[in-house]
Amino acid sequence: MTQDEQKRAAAAAAIQYVPVGSIVGVGTGSTANYFIDELAKIKHKIEGAVASSNVTAQRLKNHGIEVLDLNTVTDLPVYIDGADEITKHLHMIKGGGGALTREKIVSAVARKFICIADQSKLVDVLGAFPLPIEVIPMARSYVAREITYLGGHPALRQDFVTDNGNIILDVHGLQILNPVELETTLNQLTGVVTNGLFARKAANTLLLGTDHSVETITI
Ligand code: A5P
Repeated sequence: MTQDEQKRAAAAAAIQYVPVGSIVGVGTGSTANYFIDELAKIKHKIEGAVASSNVTAQRLKNHGIEVLDLNTVTDLPVYIDGADEITKHLHMIKGGGGALTREKIVSAVARKFICIADQSKLVDVLGAFPLPIEVIPMARSYVAREITYLGGHPALRQDFVTDNGNIILDVHGLQILNPVELETTLNQLTGVVTNGLFARKAANTLLLGTDHSVETITI
């Protein structure tokens, strides 16, 4: 399968994790878009969806799927989203599309995170993909200096504003051997809204599109 076919196959496989009558948390990105297209086929079997970005909300609405405000939702059985990198421990880097904060909020509420990805996303060590960090604009320089002290090389994502009105620093040059610890450290920096490490709450299941099939990895 091509990379796109792997994404589409992983997205299709995720439908079996959507309980009938439920509200579904929906991620952002090209793989999540394939999932939305699959979800549309069973939209009569779900109550609605919670979106992790404005782009995802619009795509869901275009398919006739009701988009609910997370604050009105008390039970979210599942959140389904892609990743920029994922390890066999199901720790992830996310935020390549800049939606990391809302992704982390929706996934925090969900009981299960199902990651859908093509095989290029599976890595031994996180960090080759620059780690996105959403920052309050006035804290940009301060946070960049602090990240440099931690050994990273931050770059301002050009011409980009998040759905929350903030900027993104993409941190290059990290070899993230302890993602839980680094996620916690970055969370402590004043001015950081969210970092793109999803390790303290990792995925529960990875549906990985490969050359010939979709592999299921659960921890
Ligand atoms: C969006 O902010 C990201 O977290 C995406 O979920 C991630 O970048 C995966 O995107 P693709 O499915 O497009 O690779």
